[in-house]
Amino acid sequence: MRTLEIPAPSEKQRMLLTDTHKYVAYGGARGGGKSWALRTKGVILALARAGIIIMIIRKTYAELRANHIDPLRAMLGNRIAKYNDARKEYTFPNGSVIKFRYCETERDMGRYQGTEADIICIDEATQFDENVFRMFAACLRGVNEHPKRIYLTCNPGGKGHGWVKRLFIDKAFKEDENPNDYSFIQAFVQDNHALMAAQPEYIKQLEALPHKLRDAWLYGKWDIFEGQFFSDFTDKPSQYKERTFTHVIEPFAPKKTWRRFRSFDFGYNKPFSVGWWAVDPDNVFYRILELYGCTGTPDEGVRWPVEQIFDRVARIEQEHEYLKGHHITGVADPSIWDASRGISIADTAAKYGIYFEKGDNKRLPGWMQMHYRFMFDENGYPMMYVFNTCSAFIRTIPLLTHDDLDPEDLDTTQEDHVADEVRYFCMSRPVTPRESELQPARKYNPLDLWQDDNSNDKNAIYRL
Ligand SMILES: Nc1ncnc2c1ncn2[C@@H]1O[C@H](COP(=O)(O)OP(=O)(O)OP(=O)(O)O)[C@@H](O)[C@H]1O
Ligand SMILES: [Mg+2]
Repeated sequence: MRTLEIPAPSEKQRMLLTDTHKYVAYGGARGGGKSWALRTKGVILALARAGIIIMIIRKTYAELRANHIDPLRAMLGNRIAKYNDARKEYTFPNGSVIKFRYCETERDMGRYQGTEADIICIDEATQFDENVFRMFAACLRGVNEHPKRIYLTCNPGGKGHGWVKRLFIDKAFKEDENPNDYSFIQAFVQDNHALMAAQPEYIKQLEALPHKLRDAWLYGKWDIFEGQFFSDFTDKPSQYKERTFTHVIEPFAPKKTWRRFRSFDFGYNKPFSVGWWAVDPDNVFYRILELYGCTGTPDEGVRWPVEQIFDRVARIEQEHEYLKGHHITGVADPSIWDASRGISIADTAAKYGIYFEKGDNKRLPGWMQMHYRFMFDENGYPMMYVFNTCSAFIRTIPLLTHDDLDPEDLDTTQEDHVADEVRYFCMSRPVTPRESELQPARKYNPLDLWQDDNSNDKNAIYRL
């Protein structure tokens, strides 16, 4: 006889497994056993209701495989149900099907129009636009007796933050939405006893996050992505227990032995930003100098032709007391290598002896790096300082606000050129928060939202 033993759910997971609303959202924090609950619900329904069609959706195929396909293959093997890799489907002997689908682009959406399913499970729904949710909701049909439901999991943040918050947290329904259709189950990492027992240090990792993300991912707060993006940047020194906490400091001559760097962001007919940095042996950044202006032709006002930027950069590096005689490593926006408009910006720079390495322009990890560096340690020391002469940094960084559609990102219609340039530099020398307190090798990293392609489920015990 074939038996399948499923580990006991947590109390919150049990609430999801027994909820019969049309739209059930689960989560609101990280690590609360969301993905486990979704796929387990899928398996239970598939076994209990012959012929039911279930779709499990994630943004990318890599995440789908790591969070659902691989763990389910470990759980079900090919004895309980048969997996077809080409179709990305599990078929059960009773005719039930679990389909694994991803939706990364508009083109992917087109593929699912006209698809039918009885149960749709959208993992990390806050990573999707509302139109993706609506499109999948339209797939919820079938002439049969099976329930028609959508289960969603979510964390605050991401481009779907707004619609998930409206429907499940604020419950601000529109006329055509029935409030009785919606249910929200809040689960925190502490609710996931399996994870707490296996790796209690996850909480420490969440506690070490920049305060806004910590409030969102550990405490499940939904209203923190409002206002200033870098609220952790302190331009005005604050006093606490006889210590002054600040990122902005009086200039001093950095030691000759400290390495020097240059970061650069460029835009056509937009501001450009050059930052120079000294880095001490503890990998603390000091922004020692900057050059900020607007590109374009001089007859459009005070604008810098590209050649003039690098002529000035070269002169500064030869003459400035903090820089002269140093080898300076440059990092820049990868788009400066674009030669589609003629000679690339990088080649123009090279004519003046100014060289760059291609920066890593992943946005969210880049902002995280800046947040990590702004954090003060227990003695009040951050990992990044700014000389008070760097006026473009001090003026523009505090003005940036969250993007309405993607609250973990900033609103790019603002003056974000210094922020971009700093982000490329931070990504070239990344840090992890409070490195020394954390254990280096982790089997499961609940914070790995953006490079989430390792199986999360090495700890689960499945007995067949
Ligand atoms: N009831 C359970 N029994 C055994 N293991 C479980 C249970 N619930 C969750 N786990 C395990 O705990 C770990 C984290 O769970 P899961 O991946 O579902 O969390 P999550 O909320 O989706 O996390 P994230 O926010 O990072 O996406 C996984 O290894 C998962 O298999
Ligand atoms: Mg998950």
